[in-house]
Amino acid sequence: MVSMSFASHRDLHERNRRSWNAATRAHNSHKLNQAEFLRCGGSTLFPEEVELLGNLEGKSLLHLLCNSGQDTLSLARLGARVTGVDISDEAIDTARQLSLETGLPGTFHRADVYDFLRGAPEFPDRYDRIFLSYGALCWLRDLGTFTRGVRELLSPGGHLVIVEFHPVGCCLGEDWRVEIGAFGGIRLETPEGVGDYVAESGKALSPSGTREGLRGFSNPHPSFEFTWGLGEIVTAILESGLTLRSLMEYPYANGWKILPDMQESPDRRMLPPEDRPRFPFMYSLTAERQS
Ligand SMILES: C[S@@+](CC[C@H](N)C(=O)[O-])C[C@H]1O[C@@H](n2cnc3c(N)ncnc32)[C@H](O)[C@@H]1O
Repeated sequence: MVSMSFASHRDLHERNRRSWNAATRAHNSHKLNQAEFLRCGGSTLFPEEVELLGNLEGKSLLHLLCNSGQDTLSLARLGARVTGVDISDEAIDTARQLSLETGLPGTFHRADVYDFLRGAPEFPDRYDRIFLSYGALCWLRDLGTFTRGVRELLSPGGHLVIVEFHPVGCCLGEDWRVEIGAFGGIRLETPEGVGDYVAESGKALSPSGTREGLRGFSNPHPSFEFTWGLGEIVTAILESGLTLRSLMEYPYANGWKILPDMQESPDRRMLPPEDRPRFPFMYSLTAERQS
């Protein structure tokens, strides 16, 4: 049984659920024709995760912290049998609706990921791939409990695939000043909650097209994130018994305009100006459960 020390985290996660419910409503309000886009073969995925996940035909895939399931359903289109988990009611309702409207099959659970993983030893299912990406790990209070739960749910030979924003790049704020720490599991409270970054990122986060949607969004619910360094993340993965297979860093960010002077490339990447020092803004990691 995976041991859980989440009781004291429940309240923070609950508050994050409310913040994400409000933000997800705002985010989706800017995304045009999502169902039609996916139904007609569109994909919200970036090349990095597609390559790292490999051939998905007939594979079972668990997408953790999947938000409204656009990536999850894009993975279903690549042949995977997909299951998505997210704490936000709004996100999971949208994911189920998109699955119905697109005919792309997917099972979606609304749950705190720690509650979901706690049940793992009793689940009949094990997964060939477990995937999380782009702003997921920063919501986790306890990396060790998370990675042990992930290992439990992987099939022998199965892979964990993470594509994430880099803790170093995420330290920077306007004018490239260091604004937050890069490791230590420090809790960061944002009184104004999860923001409407989708409105600011335009087509990069909304490949189906954009519309004005909600204007002047203000989130009434604060949010709580945690700063994890790459060393802490890799250590938690190794200590869970998984074998590290790859670790890459990238000098750009997919989708999210982390800094105001980043420029969007035609392939939806946010590139820093060339006269700035090179920083990693993203990393990817794959790890295998061997037995
Ligand atoms: C930035 S989004 C991840 C986006 C995702 N990669 C996608 O495919 O759209 C972060 C997600 O984490 C979810 N989340 C935050 N804390 C969580 C928790 N404790 N358990 C499950 N989901 C959580 C939020 O509801 C939100 O949908």
